[in-house]
Amino acid sequence: MALHPLHGLVDQLSTQPIIFIGGKGGVGKTTTAAALASYYASQQKKTLIVSTDPAHSLGDVLNVRLNNEKTAITPHLDAIELNPDVIVDAHFAQVESTIKSYANPDMMPKIREHLKLSKSAPGAQEAAMLESMCQHLITAADADFDKKYEHIIFDTAPTGHTLRLLVLPEMMGAWTDGLLAQQRRQAKLRSVANHLDNHNHNHNHNQKSSQKDSNKKDVPNPFAKKKSDRWEQAVAVLEKRKQLFRQAGILLHDRSQTAIILVMTADVLPLAETKRAIEQLEESRLTPAAVVINQLIVPTQSDEFWRLRAERQQQLLQDIENSFPKYPLYPIYLQQTDVRGTEALSMLLRPPS
Ligand SMILES: Nc1ncnc2c1ncn2[C@@H]1O[C@H](COP(=O)(O)OP(=O)(O)OP(=O)(O)O)[C@@H](O)[C@H]1O
Ligand SMILES: [Mg+2]
Repeated sequence: MALHPLHGLVDQLSTQPIIFIGGKGGVGKTTTAAALASYYASQQKKTLIVSTDPAHSLGDVLNVRLNNEKTAITPHLDAIELNPDVIVDAHFAQVESTIKSYANPDMMPKIREHLKLSKSAPGAQEAAMLESMCQHLITAADADFDKKYEHIIFDTAPTGHTLRLLVLPEMMGAWTDGLLAQQRRQAKLRSVANHLDNHNHNHNHNQKSSQKDSNKKDVPNPFAKKKSDRWEQAVAVLEKRKQLFRQAGILLHDRSQTAIILVMTADVLPLAETKRAIEQLEESRLTPAAVVINQLIVPTQSDEFWRLRAERQQQLLQDIENSFPKYPLYPIYLQQTDVRGTEALSMLLRPPS
């Protein structure tokens, strides 16, 4: 059997700053992410665990109430639960203030109405969530030495969702590029038009008034100046966002920085789903680092029901190995009860003594 001892996962990821845990719903992503985070923290490695799950399961697993701000769980472990509603609200408030800075005030009620609808549009939460995740990534990567995390572990939402999030930076990059190019063209046209306007204006005046005009030119029209400033500000916001996605995209695609771990159970549907997930990840140049097979039943069972289930899992393990020959496979065995609290979680990954 080509299963690696589970502690090998801890070793394999020990130098990875960014770890994403993906997989189908309910297979054990939160448990795996929290176990890794608790284990590294127990080894005095400064670790941040980030959940994007609105169901608060990370808080439940850690026995702590979490929110959008970092909460210290142990001296070396911080946790944060990104709440999509709060993030979407903050994101759209920022969009609104950006638009407000250059839009005609009469248009604002209509724009507000439109933004309100956009909040519930498909993809809005993902986009806002992605921006927030990227911000955490970049902030953590740029942090000073004493504030730096050795590991940032993302307990992501289920597979399809996660995949869309991971490829969004490139799509959004292209989109903001197009928008910026268009805005620059417009700004250029406007400055040419202004220039021509000034030019004509000057020519139509006699020497005396032209002198007055050139004095005027030194004291620019406050409204025009303000407007172009606002325009610059709006462009700067977009530039910043694009830069954020680009930086995050580079981090995500760098195998020495980011490791994606897929969790599955030894069942038919998770196997099919994991195959698809791996194909999609490979297509996006995001090869996973390993596959965790969770909730395995120890084969030596006296009860017939459990023995048959364990046998079935062993057959599926064979399929799993054949399906993923390139990836290290790590087992997590089914525990008697849910695994909760940092102590129990890190025990799950402790090397056998
Ligand atoms: N090895 C295990 N032994 C016992 N219970 C487990 C094990 N792994 C996970 N569980 C339990 O199974 C349930 C689902 O696990 P978990 O919440 O980690 O999955 P998830 O993939 O994060 O789910 P979701 O997709 O809903 O976020 C939880 O109640 C958890 O405690
Ligand atoms: Mg979860």
